[in-house]
Amino acid sequence: MKRILVIGTGSIGERHTRCMLATRRATVGICELNPDICRRVAAQYGLAESFTSLDTALEEPWDAAVIATPAHTHVPIARRLAGRGIHLLIEKPLSTSTDGIAELTETVEQGGLHAGVAYVYRAHPGLAAMRRALQAGRFGEPVQVVVNCGQNFPFFRPAYREIYYTDRAKGGGAIQDALTHMVNASEWLVGPVERLTADADHMVLEGVTVEDTVHVLTRHGKVMGSFSLNQYQPPNEILLTVNCTRGTVRFEPIGQRWRWQTDPDDTWHDEPWSPMERDDLFTLQAGAFLDVLEEKAAPLCTLAEGLQTLRVNLAALRAVDGEAIWLPVGND
Ligand SMILES: NC(=O)c1ccc[n+]([C@@H]2O[C@H](COP(=O)([O-])OP(=O)(O)OC[C@H]3O[C@@H](n4cnc5c(N)ncnc54)[C@H](O)[C@@H]3O)[C@@H](O)[C@H]2O)c1
Repeated sequence: MKRILVIGTGSIGERHTRCMLATRRATVGICELNPDICRRVAAQYGLAESFTSLDTALEEPWDAAVIATPAHTHVPIARRLAGRGIHLLIEKPLSTSTDGIAELTETVEQGGLHAGVAYVYRAHPGLAAMRRALQAGRFGEPVQVVVNCGQNFPFFRPAYREIYYTDRAKGGGAIQDALTHMVNASEWLVGPVERLTADADHMVLEGVTVEDTVHVLTRHGKVMGSFSLNQYQPPNEILLTVNCTRGTVRFEPIGQRWRWQTDPDDTWHDEPWSPMERDDLFTLQAGAFLDVLEEKAAPLCTLAEGLQTLRVNLAALRAVDGEAIWLPVGND
């Protein structure tokens, strides 16, 4: 049994606690600054160890930690833990800037530590199966990745006005909070984004000013990409399509399937997976992290890959904030 410290037990940290316990391969202690949340989560999951300060938590020995605090705090916490030889699973996005990441990487490498970024779609068996098919060359070479997604964020996260989401400096807004999942998944499928341009704005969500609508055009080497996402549409949808030289594949998690088509005369062929609850994905991610700690597997998303996706977030924000060139359409 590994001893895991979950740091921050708000929305996702509580889920990490529950899902790590569900593996039955780890004991969990928590560190949560808010004493009411700390008490409630410890009581709910019958935890023997709970702390409201990291100093006190670190008086105990831990094999690894899951960092589930807001993004701007990830790297300082991670550096502290890595300095003590604690392996790391860091929530997405890795950070809100690249500050301190070179130092964190150096400490991790010098200490022989395992560190990963919790882009949870990499634990999805359907996305992994689609990736294997792409990598085997079954559909030829990837040419274009097209991502369309949206959900009603207030429905899924009623407290959105009271959390980090309201502030880009804390990892808020559609680009850093939501789109980053799809960017990371796409980079896993077709390679890293090398350049991009983007448009985003606040359009609908009440009580916040951060962008809730975003469009990004990307280049991943020769592969062209297009991403659109909003946080208010009633349907909860993710459609991640990769067009290849000999066919099309699509990841459709809401439909519990990935699908492919190779002939225009034909129809989609579905590759369904057994129904999954949201916790199932996080339990798979927890199990994959424990496999890494037991030296049975490599991290699903390395620090370097998390840093790459962070750079995409930052470039998209810069593009939106005025660095992208917009050409006026005139009458000439
Ligand atoms: N993978 C996913 O699907 C997913 C979903 C939601 C959030 N997230 C990510 O997880 C992180 C947290 O998001 P959330 O929605 O759980 O936020 P949240 O606000 O619900 O919870 C964060 C918690 O961290 C605590 N905290 C803050 N600083 C702390 C510190 N130094 N030590 C201990 N506790 C501290 C806060 O008191 C709070 O309870 C963010 O990076 C977010 O992007 C990922």
